[in-house]
Amino acid sequence: MARDVHNPLLFEIAWEVANKAPVTVHEYGDSYTLIGPLNYRTAAAEVESEPVSNTHMREILEDMTYQGIKWMYGRWLIEGAPHVLLLDTTSIIERLDSWKADLWNVAGIPSPPNDQETNDSVLFAVIAHFHEWQSSCAIPLMRKRRTDLTTIFTTHATLLGRYLCAGSTDFYNNITKFSVDEETGKRGIYHRYCIERAAAHCCDVFTTVSQITAFEAEHLLKRKPDGVLPNGLNVIKFSAMHEFQNLHAKSKEKIHNFVRGHFYGHYDFDLDNTLYFFTAGRYEYRNKGVDMFIESLGRLNARLKACNSPMTVVAFIVMPAATQSFAVESLKAQVVTKQLQETVKEITDRIGQRIFEKAARYTGGDINDAVIDPLELLTNEEKVLLKRRVIALKRSTLPAIVTHNMCDDNDDPILMQLRRLQLFNHPTDRVKVIFHPEFLNSNNPLIGLDYDDFVRGCHLGVFPSYYEPWGYTPAECTVMGVPSITTNLSGFGCFIEEVVENSSDYGIYIIDRRMKSVEESIQQIVDCMLQYCQKSRRQRINQRNRTERLSDLLDWKLMGMEYVRARKLALHRAYPDSFMGSDLGDFQQYKFRIPRPFSAPASPKIKGSNNSDSVDDISEQMAAFGFGMGHDDEDEYPFPMILKRSDS
Ligand code: UDP
Ligand code: G6P
Repeated sequence: MARDVHNPLLFEIAWEVANKAPVTVHEYGDSYTLIGPLNYRTAAAEVESEPVSNTHMREILEDMTYQGIKWMYGRWLIEGAPHVLLLDTTSIIERLDSWKADLWNVAGIPSPPNDQETNDSVLFAVIAHFHEWQSSCAIPLMRKRRTDLTTIFTTHATLLGRYLCAGSTDFYNNITKFSVDEETGKRGIYHRYCIERAAAHCCDVFTTVSQITAFEAEHLLKRKPDGVLPNGLNVIKFSAMHEFQNLHAKSKEKIHNFVRGHFYGHYDFDLDNTLYFFTAGRYEYRNKGVDMFIESLGRLNARLKACNSPMTVVAFIVMPAATQSFAVESLKAQVVTKQLQETVKEITDRIGQRIFEKAARYTGGDINDAVIDPLELLTNEEKVLLKRRVIALKRSTLPAIVTHNMCDDNDDPILMQLRRLQLFNHPTDRVKVIFHPEFLNSNNPLIGLDYDDFVRGCHLGVFPSYYEPWGYTPAECTVMGVPSITTNLSGFGCFIEEVVENSSDYGIYIIDRRMKSVEESIQQIVDCMLQYCQKSRRQRINQRNRTERLSDLLDWKLMGMEYVRARKLALHRAYPDSFMGSDLGDFQQYKFRIPRPFSAPASPKIKGSNNSDSVDDISEQMAAFGFGMGHDDEDEYPFPMILKRSDS
């Protein structure tokens, strides 16, 4: 029977099944199935079982059942409700050894006995679009056996790259020189590397998530990727005017409350002239560029002092580390401030009551007698109460630089660096620092905000990463309209650099960590931060509006188009005869352009494009996939409401 390559079935295989599903469902409908490992605990709540309607698939699955393989098929209860096929790897455990022998005999890939993650990957091998080495064992086997289908392999980072960067390797300067077999052998990951490299070479189309990872893959996996499939976000919009700006003000007020408490006894700066900077993510001191962030804060402090700036910067570092508990001092800070606030409220309520009583009792005569004497507003008892609350604010210590009791206080790299630079939250410091070694959530007794809301309330995210295959944190900032600093060593930074010409106008500052020395990169970060401190409120608001406009660029609705191109290329490669004469188009080029800033006079320029075309470009492409994007005026522009992180 001839293959119907023009109406293909699409299987997407990943360890954590893909989240850009709604877009793919839109294109493929019932022909799309996600494949992942079966976790009975989560599947019961997330997947609704259904019979298999496709006859070919039903036959295959019946055969699998016959062979003792357990699986679950159904609708994944997320937007788009895609079909999912989840495989129970434990049901086939007894075949592990024979499959591992197969992997060795057919593809020459070794798999030692004690590597659980590799064992799981061998049990889980199936077909089509594979993500990461763990899902990709089947690719070399299918290539050797000439299975009649086409494969895409997407690697989100390389195994060796991750390992090398976990140490203190000068990675990018030596990337062409590593002896890959030796380096992976030394780290006990040679066999995993074999799977990854074989998948990269045996697939029809090889892709990564960013240009920087493409560069890494070319040198460490020895195949230049065919293209890049950047990560998107599920951006849900709502159309209330400037809602995201209002949310900024609301969340900022909550951060203000925390700061008033945290700095009690030293709260002598003006919150109206205070900016909140932050970095967040996994605690990888060097890879996430925390070293550079803190160094830059030290210098920013000196420069703000030198120019007598009226501004105060409070810089947060939100990175989980081992802790024993919240520090008593941090909790106390919130309590004493809250008590003061409650006392003030009680007293003002009583004052109000007294003013009212006095006025209400007016029965004629001198009207001045009906208005309370301002000197008598506070009773002596109230004065004492207030003084007691104020005395509780006295302290002999400086506001803490860390909110928790750390297990490794003496040797923690962040604390060591803050201490080395003497960033101690001294009253004369214009840059204050707070290390919060735990992810945020709204039940937190200190900063009672979920991470998203915290980000909204801040002014600038700072992510000067060294090793960052993609980097969601600055992307998330962007869709929430919060400016950020990123680097040209992060996948996101490379993407923005390629698509937006003068991205700093849009509130995305890209630090050069590729061609510049460490010293020069740090200078660049300090300059960006200082420049930000010099902006007026009006300028900050305008910049946030522009930043937020880039969110369409990061929406899966648009990012998913790169996946469409990859699939097209895969079909062309595997079945060239069926596509004779049809246009493949360019892969490896973002075919969209940013919409022009509709309002502002000095519109940022878009790389290689004419601004007025760009709006049409993007809308046309989105329309082709059934998504509308208006040419709205600034005031009617829809704003994103919720975003969800979604690795593909
Ligand atoms: N994050 C979070 N809570 C926090 C701080 C960060 O959930 O308090 C999330 C953030 O939303 C982001 C992720 O951590 O999605 C970090 O992702 P990124 O791609 O920047 O780094 P990775 O962890 O993949 O190296
Ligand atoms: C938003 C609000 C404004 C507020 C501003 C503060 O735009 O809608 O009412 O004045 O935020 O901005 P800032 O950069 O000073 O936090």
